[in-house]
Amino acid sequence: DRLKRNTEKIIEMTRFNEDILKSIPAGIITTDKDGHLLSVNEAAKNLLHENRRKNRDIDIMETLLEQLSETLKSNRVINNILTFNDIEGNTIYLDVTTSLLKGNESSKDGAICSFNDISDRKKFEKNMDLLDRLTSIGQFAAGIAHEIRNPLTGMKTSIQVLENRMYKNYDSSNERLFSGVIQEIDRINNLISGLLNFAKPRASKFEKTNLEEVLENTLTLLVNHADENDVEIKVSGCENAEVCADKAQMEQIFLNIIKNSISAVERSGLVTVCFSNSLREDGMYVTAEFYDNGCGIQLKDMPKIFNPFFTTKSQGTGLGLSVVYELVKINHGKIDIQSVEGEGTKVRIDFPAYGGKDFE
Ligand SMILES: Nc1ncnc2c1ncn2[C@@H]1O[C@H](COP(=O)(O)OP(=O)(O)OP(=O)(O)O)[C@@H](O)[C@H]1O
Ligand SMILES: [Mg+2]
Repeated sequence: DRLKRNTEKIIEMTRFNEDILKSIPAGIITTDKDGHLLSVNEAAKNLLHENRRKNRDIDIMETLLEQLSETLKSNRVINNILTFNDIEGNTIYLDVTTSLLKGNESSKDGAICSFNDISDRKKFEKNMDLLDRLTSIGQFAAGIAHEIRNPLTGMKTSIQVLENRMYKNYDSSNERLFSGVIQEIDRINNLISGLLNFAKPRASKFEKTNLEEVLENTLTLLVNHADENDVEIKVSGCENAEVCADKAQMEQIFLNIIKNSISAVERSGLVTVCFSNSLREDGMYVTAEFYDNGCGIQLKDMPKIFNPFFTTKSQGTGLGLSVVYELVKINHGKIDIQSVEGEGTKVRIDFPAYGGKDFE
């Protein structure tokens, strides 16, 4: 009878331990003292499976086993944040701790590895960093922009006056020089406008805004630009594309994104804009996705694309996406860019649907 009770107790304990391993959200892997895999819990299987699906050629398990054997060799607890890049250009962060598995007599029985996918947390931290950086750059830029614009206006006026005076002894080379100077001044002026726009967007007027209509307006502005480059733009709508936003700012967002796509695709490229609705825990959302089959963005450039003045184009100012980022934020949206070099780029923006949320 006693034996039976004890056996039951042991079974219960074992089951309890198994339940803990099964329910814990951390991935847990154990090996024997020679580094041979002993067990992989449910969370580890899911995490590895999910990542294997996305990564194709990266073997995360191999890396984990390496760290385990390192622990076995050195008898040390090792904590690492491992990073992997998946095929979509996202970085996966795993927080991995390996330690020795010790039996009763504190003999070395093997090693245990516990790990968590902290990619979402990392992404959030990076976003906060970016936000901080953009805010301070913005304040700095606004100051400089004002200081540059004033003398610029003076210069332009003087040049125009001089030009008129020079007309009296006409010389065509002088005329070219003058118009060159004026063109350059205009160029700086445009740059400053862009900068001010980024640093201090004018007050928004939030109203019921249909994003499909906004896109239509934007496309009329872009028709020539797209035709010139022989780029086709396809649009697919959704049931309800209404959001509460500033129409002009939405147009500017779309314009900057599509202009980037047009310049990324070679001749005969394709740009697709898809709207969709989704119901989430906190209400209805409208999503706009912009796909292009252009040159894509190099992995090393991905962290920089929202930085003001980051550009890979000879004629670019690098302000387009920083303005987009700011305007999306002001209009309560979220932006995410994914890109594969040589294949294309996807820009996704989510906005709360009209009437779905109260702001301020
Ligand atoms: N759809 C895209 N395809 C490929 N690269 C892109 C795409 N969108 C942005 N980029 C990259 O991000 C960089 C920054 O874009 P951003 O719009 O901020 O500036 P820009 O286009 O270079 O200049 P501007 O928009 O001020 O004329 C680009 O120079 C380019 O390298
Ligand atoms: Mg741009």
